[in-house]
Amino acid sequence: MRVLVTGAAGFIGSHLCEFLLKEGCSVAGIDNFDPFYDRKFKEENLSLLQGKKNFTFLEGDIRSEEARQFIRTTKPDIIVHLAAMAGVRPSIANPRKYTSVNVGGTVNLLEGAREAGVGKFVFASSSSVYGGNRKVPFSEGDPVDTPISPYAATKKAGELICHTYHVLSGMDVTCLRFFTVYGPRQRPEMAVYLFTEKIYKGEEIPLYAEGENRRDFTYIDDIVDGVWKSMNNMGGFRVYNLGESQVIAVKDLVRVIEGCTGRKARVRHLPPQPGDMPVTYADITRAREELGYDPKTPIEEGIEKFVCWYKKHRLKEG
Ligand SMILES: NC(=O)c1ccc[n+]([C@@H]2O[C@H](COP(=O)([O-])OP(=O)(O)OC[C@H]3O[C@@H](n4cnc5c(N)ncnc54)[C@H](O)[C@@H]3O)[C@@H](O)[C@H]2O)c1
Repeated sequence: MRVLVTGAAGFIGSHLCEFLLKEGCSVAGIDNFDPFYDRKFKEENLSLLQGKKNFTFLEGDIRSEEARQFIRTTKPDIIVHLAAMAGVRPSIANPRKYTSVNVGGTVNLLEGAREAGVGKFVFASSSSVYGGNRKVPFSEGDPVDTPISPYAATKKAGELICHTYHVLSGMDVTCLRFFTVYGPRQRPEMAVYLFTEKIYKGEEIPLYAEGENRRDFTYIDDIVDGVWKSMNNMGGFRVYNLGESQVIAVKDLVRVIEGCTGRKARVRHLPPQPGDMPVTYADITRAREELGYDPKTPIEEGIEKFVCWYKKHRLKEG
């Protein structure tokens, strides 16, 4: 299978590319090393891929003509579109860029796919589309018309434009709503990484809303497995939740990280943050039934693996 992965130098993208290469796929990656977080981390991710047989890479912007040209020259069977401006809170400070990349970039890639006759497109959506919903767990059939951050709105917009391309050009499109993904190489501003870093540095952990916000944390290997299964079960327009379907309060996450690091956290309580959802919790019945998705990593095991990776790859840096 020839696969084009956008956001290939990022957290999820680099894991997916590694997996696809092991499966014998031919992989074309694109990423512009957006400065949202340190380029050096993305270069480290990419170094695990570069030089491998069947891997090609373009440093470029998904909003560019060059990106569409890359689709034409690499002729993928399927595009897995992960590149995005990620993160809820920063999107409030920078809504124009989030919209430009997440909506404009997605349209440009869908256009590129249509022009090149690519028949399959997987779009990385997010649990954030469930916005202010109170009914848990979240199901794909629930209304998602109340995004509470620009990021969430761009992901919902991405799903909508994907649907339009499915109808107009007949391509199979699957939108995957990821629920807080964590694991080795995670984005450094995300809770698991940030809390671990602060514990090791002896710094205070900012805990919003008394740490009562609850999250469905999904281990990276389970996400990659879900993406792969969705790539192999495409047909029409589909939407799937990919979560662990287990929920933990953020304050209890701190306890788990304390256990794995063997250190005590210093916590600073802060008021709830605009854009933050009180709970995310995935109903994964549809993905289980239609894709055979079967997440396997309890939070304690996933955090143990993360901390192990962190000690080896980040702690040494200071
Ligand atoms: N990590 C999570 O918990 C999570 C949850 C829900 C959804 N998602 C979605 O999954 C995808 C991957 O997330 P991630 O955590 O790996 O983030 P990431 O930031 O590590 O990866 C995204 C990559 O996209 C690249 N990128 C950004 N703008 C670009 C542009 N204009 N052109 C080309 N490349 C560009 C970045 O340089 C980065 O390497 C994103 O679409 C994100 O919204 C992630």
